[in-house]
Amino acid sequence: MVSLSSMRWAFLWAATCAQAALDVDLNSPASIKAAAKVVAHNLISTYYHGDEPGQIPGILPGPPPGGPYYWWEGGALWGTMVDYWHYTNDTTYNNITTQALIFQSENSYMPLNWTASLGNDDQGFWGMSVMLAAEVGYPDPPSGTPGWLALAQAVFNTMAWRWDTKNCGGGLLWQINLLNKGSDYKNTIANGILFNLAARLARYTHNDTYAGWAEKAWDWLVALKYIDDQYNIYDGAHIEDNCTIIDKGQWSYNAAVLAEGLAYMYDYSNRSSKWQTRLQGLLNRTLDFFFPDGILVEIMCEHPDSIGCTTDELSFKGYMHRWLATATQLAPFTNATVMARLRTSAAGAVRSCEPDGTCGFRWNTGSYDGDTGAGQEMSALAALSSLLVTQQGVRAPLTDTTGGTSKGDPAAGNDATQPGAPLAPVTKADRAGAAVLTTAVLASLFGGIWWLLRDETKPAAPRWWRGRE
Ligand SMILES: *[C@@H]1O[C@H](CO)[C@@H](O)[C@H](O)[C@H]1NC(C)=O
Ligand SMILES: *[C@@H]1O[C@H](CO)[C@@H](O)[C@H](O)[C@H]1NC(C)=O
Ligand SMILES: *[C@@H]1O[C@H](CO)[C@@H](O)[C@H](O)[C@H]1NC(C)=O
Ligand SMILES: *[C@@H]1O[C@H](CO)[C@@H](O)[C@H](O)[C@H]1NC(C)=O
Ligand SMILES: *[C@@H]1O[C@H](CO)[C@@H](O)[C@H](O)[C@H]1NC(C)=O
Ligand SMILES: *[C@@H]1O[C@H](CO)[C@@H](O)[C@H](O)[C@H]1NC(C)=O
Ligand SMILES: *[C@@H]1O[C@H](CO)[C@@H](O)[C@H](O)[C@H]1NC(C)=O
Ligand SMILES: *[C@@H]1O[C@H](CO)[C@@H](O)[C@H](O)[C@H]1NC(C)=O
Repeated sequence: MVSLSSMRWAFLWAATCAQAALDVDLNSPASIKAAAKVVAHNLISTYYHGDEPGQIPGILPGPPPGGPYYWWEGGALWGTMVDYWHYTNDTTYNNITTQALIFQSENSYMPLNWTASLGNDDQGFWGMSVMLAAEVGYPDPPSGTPGWLALAQAVFNTMAWRWDTKNCGGGLLWQINLLNKGSDYKNTIANGILFNLAARLARYTHNDTYAGWAEKAWDWLVALKYIDDQYNIYDGAHIEDNCTIIDKGQWSYNAAVLAEGLAYMYDYSNRSSKWQTRLQGLLNRTLDFFFPDGILVEIMCEHPDSIGCTTDELSFKGYMHRWLATATQLAPFTNATVMARLRTSAAGAVRSCEPDGTCGFRWNTGSYDGDTGAGQEMSALAALSSLLVTQQGVRAPLTDTTGGTSKGDPAAGNDATQPGAPLAPVTKADRAGAAVLTTAVLASLFGGIWWLLRDETKPAAPRWWRGRE
């Protein structure tokens, strides 16, 4: 039996909790915008210092051990901010966003500073953010710098040039720098980003060559069973076993990057049933697997009694919300189901935030868990602002015939240099990588022959890549 005093206590407790969370009415776009503004301010003022004197534009504090954040997460941050602008029209952060995207674009988003942590996925995250800038009509960079589209093409091209047929029948290795840990691993995120960018470039430019690459990347992921029959999306496998022993970890960003790419292919293919079936299958599995009780959980590391997520992984939830929201614009048949789920999940995210916009990591407890960081903050911002996708006046991604004006360059990236030559004396651990490099050097002597035999359907390879096929 419930006594009156305990009922009153429960009432007061509930009232206190309601006050303690970020104040927002998810049925009101104006209220969502106001709350998103609070979170955006908290995110940038707490975590971003790249616009301060003596700091490096574009990056979050890091990479380890200098700070917790790897270089790629800066790329993810600016994509989040481009979406924030697109959904709210708030230009407060456009200046620092533009500066960041340009500053780190050195060497086709393979800046030599960050070689030690440079994977295909890292470069690719920056590539997806500039692709987004082109698609949402984000203000063009100042004249004299390459357009957002050209930068995205540079990332795509340099990634496609690294497609490696020597192992596992194709696919990208995780790492660009062959001396990095992970140079023997072919993972879903690197190949998923190639797929995602290819699908988006196909749709934006109406150039079918990109669509061919999207098909190729998708088919490879399926052939190797990184994507299984139930649309579980696994993490990757090592080349030593010809990519047959699969790490079955399921991470939300892998499912999300593929789902978004599928929505682009669905639209690009004029709504073909082939891409529709795939998208439907993947969304079905993704919503069931990652959103128990309607709220996104990073299942692999967000355990009921402990959090085992790395700094990287603490940022993944935001990508799911952003990329699924965009998918609903391209594939309207997904709209009702997906948006309903993103709404309940965003409600959970909001309850994890303090009134000042400091947000935690767990979204399914109804309160703030004190687990903070740039990734958690980006994710909450993404969850909120993505809900505005259904608002009047929010355009679907543009193409070069529907208002997109970003300047492109199909050959972009040709002048990039491959980072990663060893600078320090070669150690035992480096030997395997060094052997690869020696082979590459020898092979480059015969590069001219390869050049004559090269596949004409591929983008012309730059000098640093010739001979590596
Ligand atoms: C962005 O930079 C331009 C040029 O430096 C300046 O005029 C403008 O006021 C800045 N905008 C914001 C919102 O800070
Ligand atoms: C590379 O590091 C140097 C030294 O810290 C810095 O001055 C420069 O701005 C960095 N460049 C990029 C692209 O991060
Ligand atoms: C390695 O895997 C690829 C793709 O599944 C396959 O085509 C190739 O025959 C395999 N190679 C070996 C040596 O098993
Ligand atoms: C989609 O339809 C348009 C207009 O009919 C056509 O030009 C285009 O080639 C089609 N695209 C594909 C991939 O079939
Ligand atoms: C996925 O498909 C199964 C079987 O058809 C169905 O029971 C489930 O409700 C679907 N899930 C979603 C999120 O649509
Ligand atoms: C998607 O659903 C929302 C309601 O959640 C609706 O307002 C919007 O018009 C729908 N968009 C499309 C493209 O069907
Ligand atoms: C943002 O402003 C532009 C230009 O004024 C307008 O066309 C667009 O609908 C606005 N978007 C939102 C989300 O309010
Ligand atoms: C289409 O894209 C491919 C791959 O980047 C490029 O080589 C080709 O020049 C492009 N075609 C046109 C007409 O732009």
